[in-house]
Order: sequence, then structure tokens, then C-alpha cells
Amino acid sequence: MTVTVGQAGLGHWGKNLVRNFDELAELTWICDADEARRVEFGGRYPNARVTASFEEVIADDELQAVVIATPVPTHYPLAKQALEAGKHVFVEKPPAMRAAEMEELVALAEEQGLVLMPGHLLLYHPGVLKLKELVDSGELGDVLCVYGNRQNLGIIRTNENALWSLGVHDLSVILYLIGEQPSQATANGNAFLNKGVEDVVFCYLRFPSGKIAHMHLSWLDPHKMRKLTVVGRDKMAVFDDMELEQKITVYDKAPEEPTGTYGEWRTRTGDVFSPKVANDEPLKLECRHFLDLVENGWDGREMRDGLEVVRALELLTESLHGH
Ligand SMILES: NC(=O)c1ccc[n+]([C@@H]2O[C@H](COP(=O)([O-])OP(=O)(O)OC[C@H]3O[C@@H](n4cnc5c(N)ncnc54)[C@H](O)[C@@H]3O)[C@@H](O)[C@H]2O)c1
Repeated sequence: MTVTVGQAGLGHWGKNLVRNFDELAELTWICDADEARRVEFGGRYPNARVTASFEEVIADDELQAVVIATPVPTHYPLAKQALEAGKHVFVEKPPAMRAAEMEELVALAEEQGLVLMPGHLLLYHPGVLKLKELVDSGELGDVLCVYGNRQNLGIIRTNENALWSLGVHDLSVILYLIGEQPSQATANGNAFLNKGVEDVVFCYLRFPSGKIAHMHLSWLDPHKMRKLTVVGRDKMAVFDDMELEQKITVYDKAPEEPTGTYGEWRTRTGDVFSPKVANDEPLKLECRHFLDLVENGWDGREMRDGLEVVRALELLTESLHGH
């Protein structure tokens, strides 16, 4: 049976989600506060009912799942309303701006036996899955540090800072690769263009095992970078999403301590290779995964991981604002 889906938010990103859900599920409602968008998308998806009222969408007893792609501050109230109405929820990242709110959503979904999946797109990227495989198989040796570069002279946002807009992506991947919660999270940044909205943010994370991570997040930068580097004890790997073909590069490079030379480190430089990474569209994989959870049940992993991301974002925000 095809899952019935209603989507709220048909903006820059919402249009991609709605295209996929129309293809993979039965799109029965589309909802946007903006009239021009309602007219445009109503024409594109004639089988879906069109409304400006989210309440009208969730009042439909036939509707199983809701997709939320509205601006970030509306995620928590809309997701809460949808869960209370008994709907499975896919909500764009981050589902809430406070850990306490995310905890509330998780508790509600658990209580109601509903799916609550945050839109952490990169966790469905075949390149990130390959990186995780390299880490988990021990190919890289013990992971020592991970760092992300997400910078560009890009869209200058006014309602979310670089940490919330860009950092949420890298953070979801760093926590996924390391598999621990940070014991220390500090951030430094500045709002150069719009008062109170940091456009350049540097973050530092330390984990209980001693692993460390860093994120450079900025929309004031000459380089367009979408890169994650993992330094292992035996090998190093880079995921570069700007590369068309070589998304992952593994460097057989490491420090070595030859026998009998205690404390004297040398470096080893071996092959550099690029493993095959499937070309599947991450967004389609993500949408399909949500529908699969709705149809076949789940253990709540995705929403608990989403909660850890919001917790880490909250810690970093407190540090950024000097609390
Ligand atoms: N996963 C990703 O890679 C990715 C990329 C870009 C954006 N996003 C996320 O997608 C979300 C939307 O971003 P966007 O760039 O499409 O924003 P946008 O401003 O282009 O679109 C938001 C739409 O929501 C509508 N809207 C606002 N409040 C509403 C409400 N209460 N009910 C119904 N409609 C409402 C607006 O009219 C607008 O059409 C954000 O949460 C953003 O973080 C995710």
C-alpha cells in the first residue's frame, strides 16, 4: 500500500522533497503560506489538495505522513501538532532549536508509536556511507580527528546563523562517524553582515575517547568547500562533495614508530586511491528511507541521533554567545 503524504513548505528545498514524495508515495496534500507557491505547485501536482492551513492537512484521517519543509523556527510547533494528530513526521533539519523541544518531540513520537525522522541529508549520501564503512571496518585504524569545511561566498541568511544553517550537516556526520557525544563543545564566530547572525563560525569538539573534531562554517569565504577529512592512525580519508567522480580519497599515509627507535616518529606515504561510490541521489534515498520506516516500523534511531545533533548545536550556541 502506498503511503499517503501531505507536505508543508514548497520553497527552495521543499520543491525537491515534494518531487520525490510525489514519485515515491501518494501525495494527497500540499500546503504553503504563500499564495503564488500554492498556485504554482497546485498546477504541478493536480492530484493533491492545496491549502494554506496546516490544520486542514493534519485533520485528514486518511493522511498517514506529513513532510515539513518550512523555515526552521516553525519546525517544532508544526511537528508537534502533526504528531499529536497521529501523523508520521519527516521534518527538515533541525527539527527543533532547543534540546528540550526535541526531547518533547521524541517522547511524543515514542508514546504515539510514530516515526519522527529529521532531514539529515548527508547521512544518506553514498560518500558518507563509504566513509563510515572505512571507519567501522578499521581500514583507517583508530580515528584521531575529523574536520569539516563548509564554506562559500554563499546565500547570506538572516534568520539562521552559519552554525545552524551549515553546521547541522557536518555535525550530523561527525557524530555518526565518531559514535560518541561530545564532552566539550566550543565555538567562536562573528556576525559581520547582519547583526546577531554569525556568518563565520569555527567550532571545536572533544569526545570522551579523546577524539577531536573541528568545523569551519562560513558564507564569507573565497573557497567553495564541502569537505570532511578523517585522520586515522593508519590511513586518512577525505570526502569531497564538490568532486564529481572522486568523492572519497583514501591516503595510505601515517606516522610510524620503527622498532628500536622509541619516541622517534617517521612518516609513511603510500598509495592514494579512490574507492567506488554509488551515484544514487541522496535525497531520493532519504525520502525512500522515511517511507520504509512508516511502512515497516522502526526502532527510533534516526530521531535519537537527531536529538544528539540538537544537543550539540545547543552547546555550541551557548559557547558562541559566551554563556
Ligand atoms: N537538507 C538540506 O540539504 C536542506 C537544504 C536547504 C534547506 N533545507 C531546509 O529546508 C527548510 C526550508 O528551507 P527553504 O530554503 O526551502 O526555505 P524557503 O523560505 O524557500 O521556503 C519555505 C516555505 O515555507 C512556507 N511557509 C512558511 N511558514 C509556513 C507555514 N506555517 N505553513 C505552511 N507553509 C509555510 C513559505 O511560504 C515558503 O514557501 C529549512 O528548514 C532548511 O533548513 C534543507
